[in-house]
Amino acid sequence: MRYFILSDIHSNIEALEACVQRAKQAGYDSVLCCGDIVGYGPNPVEAIDGIRQLNAVTIRGNHDRVAAGLDEPTQFNPHARRAVYWTRAALPEPYLDYLTKLPLGPLDITAEAQLVHGALTHEDDYIFTEADADENFQLTDKPLTFFGHSHFPVVFCSEEKGNSLQPISYEFDEFIAVKCESGKKLLINPGSVGQPRDGDPRASFAIWDADRARIEFYRVEYDLTLTQEKMRAANLPGYLIDRLAHGR
Ligand SMILES: [Fe+2]
Repeated sequence: MRYFILSDIHSNIEALEACVQRAKQAGYDSVLCCGDIVGYGPNPVEAIDGIRQLNAVTIRGNHDRVAAGLDEPTQFNPHARRAVYWTRAALPEPYLDYLTKLPLGPLDITAEAQLVHGALTHEDDYIFTEADADENFQLTDKPLTFFGHSHFPVVFCSEEKGNSLQPISYEFDEFIAVKCESGKKLLINPGSVGQPRDGDPRASFAIWDADRARIEFYRVEYDLTLTQEKMRAANLPGYLIDRLAHGR
């Protein structure tokens, strides 16, 4: 069984389509999404349609929650807040309803794996450091936890003494695979489809091959100039437009 793992699409349909195309070449059986389908980008309707067409098992992200009107963007920076209000206005009622009904993580996928948006501690918490990872490892017995929110593709592996961090690098290739070892727990971020922040502007996703016990990470180029043009036409904040080109 091969699971196509997506996170943080952020209304970027060009990036989503590029990931789907690449994942089809690589092969997958089902789709999992760690949330933040909308927010920041210019195509929230198309992003939701895309996720639904994939029959993705998905949890909500903080942007989905706020765009749905379940919460107000009081913790958001001014750019993100402006994008949330734009997204709310752009979404027809059935789409807002879809976001409202997305489940809150953690969500069990199999006996081995679960999804969370930010962290097991809270959907809005970030897992950036080994200390963050350690706090989360103590809250679960699941070997695999897929998370998003930070927009950094990364794997944290539990060790008997603390945790070891395995930052994922794409400098040499567009593909890398990480082995799942029995007895160890992994926290896995597939990276962000629609707004990567690790310095690489290419869209990011992962495939969990359960039979081969490995996680594959992929990067794909997409037409970000087109996404930026649409954002300009929608009068979305310049900061959000510029950052796509830098992957920051
Ligand atoms: Fe996000």
